[in-house]
Amino acid sequence: MDHAAFYEINKVSHFFSPKKIILGKDTVKKVGDEVKTLGGSKTIIVTDPGLVSAGFVKLVVDALNEAHIEVGIFDKVEPEPPAHIVDECAKMVREGRYGVVIGLGGGSSLDISKGSAMMATHPGAILDYVGTETFHKPGLPKILIPTTAGTGSEVTRSVVVADERDNIKKVVSSSLAIPEVAILDPMLTLSMPPDVTANTGMDALVHAIESYVSVNTTPFAEILAIEAIRLIAHNLPLAYSKGTDVTARYNMLLSANLAGLAFGSGGLGAVHALSYVIGSEYHMSHGRSNAIMLPHVMDFNRSGNLQKFARIAEAMGENVEGLSMYEAAEKSVEAVKKLLNMVQIPFRLSHHGIARDDLPRLVAGGMKQARLFVPNPRDLTEEDVRTIYEKAF
Ligand SMILES: [Fe+2]
Repeated sequence: MDHAAFYEINKVSHFFSPKKIILGKDTVKKVGDEVKTLGGSKTIIVTDPGLVSAGFVKLVVDALNEAHIEVGIFDKVEPEPPAHIVDECAKMVREGRYGVVIGLGGGSSLDISKGSAMMATHPGAILDYVGTETFHKPGLPKILIPTTAGTGSEVTRSVVVADERDNIKKVVSSSLAIPEVAILDPMLTLSMPPDVTANTGMDALVHAIESYVSVNTTPFAEILAIEAIRLIAHNLPLAYSKGTDVTARYNMLLSANLAGLAFGSGGLGAVHALSYVIGSEYHMSHGRSNAIMLPHVMDFNRSGNLQKFARIAEAMGENVEGLSMYEAAEKSVEAVKKLLNMVQIPFRLSHHGIARDDLPRLVAGGMKQARLFVPNPRDLTEEDVRTIYEKAF
C-alpha cells in the first residue's frame, strides 16, 4: 500500500487544542494543583447525578479539599442535554462567584461545563450564540475530565445542545470554549458498562474516520486520525469484553482524545449528519446512532477517496496485500462491520425498532444537517440520503 510522502501544501491548516493534556493512571488526583495553576480558589463541578452516586464526584471533591479549594456541585446534566441546562448552570456559576469550572462525565457534562463557563461571562442565553466564533471574550477557565472514551469534547471547540423549539441539535463553536486543561485518567473509565463502552468507542471511531476522509482535513487531523483508527480497532474489543483491563481503557481514552483533536481540526461528515435525527427522534445515544450509520455511509463514500479508505482498512488490521485499491477500500467497510459485530451493535435500522414508514422523517432530518455534507468526501443529494437510509434498513 503506497503512503503519500507529502501533504497538500496549497491549504492553510488550523489546529486547536487545550493548553495542557494530562494522561495517566490516577491523574484525577492532580485536579487541585491544576485549579491553583489557573489561579482559582473556588470551583464548581459540572456533572450528572449518575456520577454522584457512582462516587466519582467524591473522588474529585476529595482531591480539591486536600488542596484547600472550595467546591460547589451542579449535577443536573442529562443525556442529549436541552439548551436551558447551560443557562441554569451558568446562573449558578455567576451567583456563586466560582472562578474555575470543572466538567466531569461524558460528552453531555463536558459540553454543559464548557457552555456554562462561557455563559458565565456573556449576557443572554446559550442559543443566542449558535454558530462559529460567536463569543467575544474569554469565559472562565475550564478543566475537563472525561469518564467515557468517545466524544473528545475535552479538547474541542463545540458545545452541542438540543433546541427544544424545533427538536434540532444546535452547535456553538468557539476557540474560546476549548478547555485550558484536560485530565485523562483511565481509572475513571473502568466501570463503564459494555454497551456504553461500545457506543462511545464507536463515536470516537466515527470522529477519526470522518476527519481523516474530510475534504477539509489537515495534516494534523490526518496524522492523529489514522493512529486513533488503529488504536480503536485494536483496543475496543478488549475494553468492551474486559472493562477492567487498564491497558485497553488507557488506549481507548487516548484514541478518543486523538480523534477529538483530529475532528477539531479536520471536521466531520455525513455519518454525523445522518445520525443526529436518529438520536433525537428515537432517543438513541449519539454514539450508537453514529455506529449504526457508519458502515452504510462509508460504503457510499468510499469512491470519494479510495486511497484513504484502503488505508483505513489497513489501519484496522485488514490484510490488503496484493489487493487492488478498489478491493482494499471495500475492506474498510467490512472491517467496521466486523468491529460492530464484535461489540454487538446491530447496524440495521430495523433492529433498533425503526420502521420503514419512518423513511421520509429520517430523510427530512438528515437534510436539516446538510452543512455536514460540505466536508464529506462524496457529494450527497436528497436522493442519495434516501438511498443510504434505505440500505440501512
Ligand atoms: Fe460524535
